[in-house]
Amino acid sequence: MIIHQFVLTAFQQNTRVVACEETRVAICIDPGEESDELEAYIRDKDLSLQAIALTHGHLDHIGGTAALHRAFPDAEIILHQGDDDMYYGLPAQPLMLGIAPHQLTALGFDYEDPPKLTRNWKDGEIYEVGNLKFSVRHCPGHTRGHVVLAEESERKVFVGDCLFLGSIGRTDLPGGNHDQLLNSINRQILSLDDDFVVYSGHGPETTVGRERAMNPFLTGAYQPGRGKFV
Ligand SMILES: [Fe+2]
Repeated sequence: MIIHQFVLTAFQQNTRVVACEETRVAICIDPGEESDELEAYIRDKDLSLQAIALTHGHLDHIGGTAALHRAFPDAEIILHQGDDDMYYGLPAQPLMLGIAPHQLTALGFDYEDPPKLTRNWKDGEIYEVGNLKFSVRHCPGHTRGHVVLAEESERKVFVGDCLFLGSIGRTDLPGGNHDQLLNSINRQILSLDDDFVVYSGHGPETTVGRERAMNPFLTGAYQPGRGKFV
């Protein structure tokens, strides 16, 4: 598996190109914003972009979809139905985060309407990228339609904003729910073996085993509602 990461947007989001080494078929997981480097990488490496594969509909994960799709119009665009409204509401998302209208351009958040989705992820589907096979796992809690993509033979899982090194996704935005997120992580990510490498939407990589053992939100060291570590 080829994995190439770009850190984009004011939110330092991890945009990744993931490709099958043998067939050169690729997907871009969460293009955060328009990026000449991202487009050039796909062309220079002679990759065939099959899809723009979105883990969820937040602006810092979908903001580059329109530009990337213009550059590679044959790529399908896939998102879980639970985040459809968020996706099509992209131009209004910055305002919901409290960003002032006069700051939108300076911050790179003056979005055009995103292109039409090709289809929606289904929980449990197997999505093939060349010889790679991703199992698509619905993980609501950070957003209603969040999914993670796990590749069993490569022992890698792309978790978007569900899980981070030592932390979990925020749940205070529309569609967020703390208990639901913990349930999703337990059922859809911690059910993977400890050696799976975890690729998060922000920050460094980790492993399922490390987070199972050390993440205070998953070990019970952090008590939600009490607001403290015990
Ligand atoms: Fe997010």
